Amino acid sequence: MSEASWIAAPGAPLRGEVRVPGDKSVSHRAIMLAALADGTSRIEGFLEGEDARATEAIFRRLGVAIETPGPGTRIVHGVGVDGLRAADGPLDCGNAGTGMRLIAGLLAGQAFDSTLVGDASLSKRPMRRVTEPLAQMGARIDTGQGGVPPLHVHGGTPLTGVEFDNVLASAQVKSCLLLAGLYADGETVVHEPRPTRDYTERMLAAFGWPIEFAPGIARLSGGHRLRATDVRVPADFSSAAFFLVAASIVPGSDLLLRRVGMNPRRTGLLHVLRLMGADIVESDAGEEGGEPVADLRVRHAPLRGIDVPEQYVPDMIDEFPALFAAAACTSGVTRITGAHELRVKESDRIATMAAGLRALDVEIEEASDGATITGRADGFGGGRVDSHGDHRIAMSFAIAGQRARGEVVIGDTANVATSFPGFLELAQTAGFSLRSG
Ligand code: S3P
Repeated sequence: MSEASWIAAPGAPLRGEVRVPGDKSVSHRAIMLAALADGTSRIEGFLEGEDARATEAIFRRLGVAIETPGPGTRIVHGVGVDGLRAADGPLDCGNAGTGMRLIAGLLAGQAFDSTLVGDASLSKRPMRRVTEPLAQMGARIDTGQGGVPPLHVHGGTPLTGVEFDNVLASAQVKSCLLLAGLYADGETVVHEPRPTRDYTERMLAAFGWPIEFAPGIARLSGGHRLRATDVRVPADFSSAAFFLVAASIVPGSDLLLRRVGMNPRRTGLLHVLRLMGADIVESDAGEEGGEPVADLRVRHAPLRGIDVPEQYVPDMIDEFPALFAAAACTSGVTRITGAHELRVKESDRIATMAAGLRALDVEIEEASDGATITGRADGFGGGRVDSHGDHRIAMSFAIAGQRARGEVVIGDTANVATSFPGFLELAQTAGFSLRSG
């Protein structure tokens, strides 16, 4: 465990208004496409988290000038699709699987070699899901033993478009192949078993690259140009999710989340919480930077256990740690299935949530693709939990702690800064009983 830790305690009602930071997925992609565009793009609402900043630092090293006139704003002087130049050493993606997998696709099409490295968590994550289909396109990428980082991407290898039927519902894999497809001869087509977030497709279209896409399929061909475009990054639904759950489970809460990104490929948790009995009302629906946004008013409501419909899994893949915390506070049993991918996120999220919930005396049975959680509507015990350096596990126990009967000490919280800088302070403002310790 790293030094950083938090102490969560039984909480008072959550009240007031909260606006969460910019979307991580959109921030990564905005830097990448702006870097490869002809001309200068302005990004507003950029996530000042370590993951997005790692991607930004990589593009600087690849020769792209990026200015920061103020927090959350970037001015990117695009170099054109063929304008990147070799970096003088390994490129560090930090904790970010999205950064590494998408950048691997882009680098496969360059004239020069590159090496991608990551932190301890990223260095254990599977990369064959991208290196194998990239190899079908003609790319040459060496991985570490067992298909994990570092990735050594050989440049100067001509790419050819492929039609790829993915067995995984993975926006990262789809996006990686589409980005390699920018440099490929012919058409690149990706089919998915279930639709995943389509930010790469939407943003490529916004930057003027011809692309056809619909839920479950995307198709483009190489050889076009990207036109500089300003990007407004919506607030991250995945960050809002912690407040949605917290206000639902803490009696007396009434919290307003402002201008939350509501892309339907991200809002699975909203449907599932409502099935559990949550009281969440949307208002002022609108658009920011081409993405749907809305205000969400969440009031406490007693939650019941449910069987989580598998159709929602890809649309809430990052929200399962928060859902585990919600499930622990229900009356009844919640069953999660079809979520194997949780095993290979920033931590094994089934195992880390199960270990933590057990430490708080919540009954949980693990399965390879999910878990069965028996709720404790009357609250559960305090204790010590380890987030294993996983930002979303740390924040999920911060919310679970609001319903514990004693203090919950959460270890290894430093990585919360990868996706949600300022979480602790914002949570305190909303009324969380949470402090560093
Ligand atoms: C992401 C896709 C998801 C998600 C990750 C961000 C993206 O991963 O878990 O946090 O920005 O494309 P997978 O596509 O691998 O499921």
